[in-house]
Amino acid sequence: MLILGECKLEACEADITTLALDAIVNAANTSLLGGGGVDGAIHRAAGPGLLRECEKLGGCATGEAKLTGAYRLPAKHVIHAVGPVWHGGTHNEPELLASCYRRSLALAREASCTSIAFPAISCGVYRFPAERAVSIAVGAVIDEVATHAGFQRVIFACFDQAMHALYEAELARRGSPS
Ligand code: AR6
Repeated sequence: MLILGECKLEACEADITTLALDAIVNAANTSLLGGGGVDGAIHRAAGPGLLRECEKLGGCATGEAKLTGAYRLPAKHVIHAVGPVWHGGTHNEPELLASCYRRSLALAREASCTSIAFPAISCGVYRFPAERAVSIAVGAVIDEVATHAGFQRVIFACFDQAMHALYEAELARRGSPS
């Protein structure tokens, strides 16, 4: 765990669909029409209303995000972020991944959210190397939270123990004096 002013950053091992927070973030694709992984889990748990709303959004560019309702989920909003597919790291993947976190937090702020959970965007089907992705995710969130007041809780929801350990190590590294 890492405390930044009023805000607690923490990692946990959890199915993100179960978290009752102001917002959960989806690792979507540019169509915003659902898919596998965390996207499939969120659509299944939210029910068909979510897809109907997503159909009206006209997709979303990589590195960007869009906000919807959360329907049957315990969260209040879903923020659909589109991470980059990993193509070796020379196609602006790190910047696009950081942008997902920044844009998601900006939308959450506009919707007056104080608590939000992120999955490990791009770390599944999109094959972004986990250790680099974790460092980018934590760095981008720290920068945003440090410059914009209002957030109280940011959770990195990990689907497995190995990812959880990476986040815990990164949060500890950032929190310890260098
Ligand atoms: N809660 C938390 N994390 C989860 C869950 C869950 N319920 N399910 C999976 N993860 P991925 P991507 C983790 O593949 O790489 C979809 O088809 C998973 O273990 O969901 O950004 C979309 O439609 C991994 O660590 O997202 C896109 O087409 C992380 O979430 C594409 O996949 C992200 O894995 C996006 O690929």
